[in-house]
Amino acid sequence: MKCIVTGAAGFIGSHLCEALVAEGHEVVGIDAFIPYYPRAIKESNLHDLRRRPEFTFVEGDLRTMNLDPLMKGVDVVFHLAAMPGLMKSWSDLDLYSTCNILATQRLLEAARHYSVAHFIHASTSSVYGRNADGDEASPLRPVSPYGVTKLAAEHLCLAYRENFGIPVTILRYFSVYGPRQRPDMGYHILIRSILEGTPFPLYGDGEQTRSNTFIRDCIAATLLAAQRRDVSIGEIFNVGGGQVVSLNEVIAMVEKLAGRKARIERRPPRPGDQRHTCADISKARKLLGYEPTTPVSQGLQAQLEWQKNILGHGR
Ligand SMILES: NC(=O)c1ccc[n+]([C@@H]2O[C@H](COP(=O)([O-])OP(=O)(O)OC[C@H]3O[C@@H](n4cnc5c(N)ncnc54)[C@H](O)[C@@H]3O)[C@@H](O)[C@H]2O)c1
Repeated sequence: MKCIVTGAAGFIGSHLCEALVAEGHEVVGIDAFIPYYPRAIKESNLHDLRRRPEFTFVEGDLRTMNLDPLMKGVDVVFHLAAMPGLMKSWSDLDLYSTCNILATQRLLEAARHYSVAHFIHASTSSVYGRNADGDEASPLRPVSPYGVTKLAAEHLCLAYRENFGIPVTILRYFSVYGPRQRPDMGYHILIRSILEGTPFPLYGDGEQTRSNTFIRDCIAATLLAAQRRDVSIGEIFNVGGGQVVSLNEVIAMVEKLAGRKARIERRPPRPGDQRHTCADISKARKLLGYEPTTPVSQGLQAQLEWQKNILGHGR
């Protein structure tokens, strides 16, 4: 296949590019290095990929770049580029709406023009709102501007499908973790604070639950969606890790793995925070044959090892 991966320098996008290249596909990765977190981290995500002849990197902003030269002959577009993160979305709606909505519309328009065979859109459990614990037909009531823009992007995908027959699949990822996790994400902050002995801000009572997805499982689901085009086109799938744990349980697990206590600093819950997420993945199981295989303790161990390594290198 010839694939485009947007957000290729990011956490999930870089792993997806590596998996596609490993399967022998030709991959064009696009990223604008939006400075939500440092470019140096994104460059290191790309480090191994840049040496692979099957991989071409294009630095460009989907909101403005000319997509025509890239789209010819493309089989699959994996659209992962977005402004992620709930909290910043309260203060910079312009960035979130342009990166998450306008960029998606430009890409869909290009996919339409070049009759791309499959458009896989990365969405999020945040479209459900405070609690994300049902199946794909659950009510969609996002409680953050981030979730609102990601839901609008989903609707755009569906509008392009309805009106122009664009072969879209929507994947709603439930918090993804593992090596290269973004530095603003909860598990990354927790592990860093335990390793450095600095305070960990715990928002709320710690009893909020998550069905986090280990990066390898997230990538497996994404590849399955592409391989099973016969059943995935026109569908929306939850992609979760299959195990539900509270933040308090995760803190205890990391403390045990690291052999050190966390220095908890209690804070009130933040606006837009989700309370319970529990991905109902029965549809992905049934139609795609998706089965998450990484228990949380094992996934946390892998992330801990990676973070020890990057801290050792002064990042
Ligand atoms: N990480 C998670 O837990 C999680 C959970 C649910 C959904 N998602 C979704 O998965 C996708 C990837 O998330 P991530 O955690 O890897 O984030 P990330 O920030 O690491 O990667 C996203 C990349 O997109 C790029 N980008 C943003 N706007 C762009 C634009 N206008 N033009 C070109 N590139 C642009 C950024 O520079 C960044 O490198 C996003 O769509 C996100 O909404 C992530």
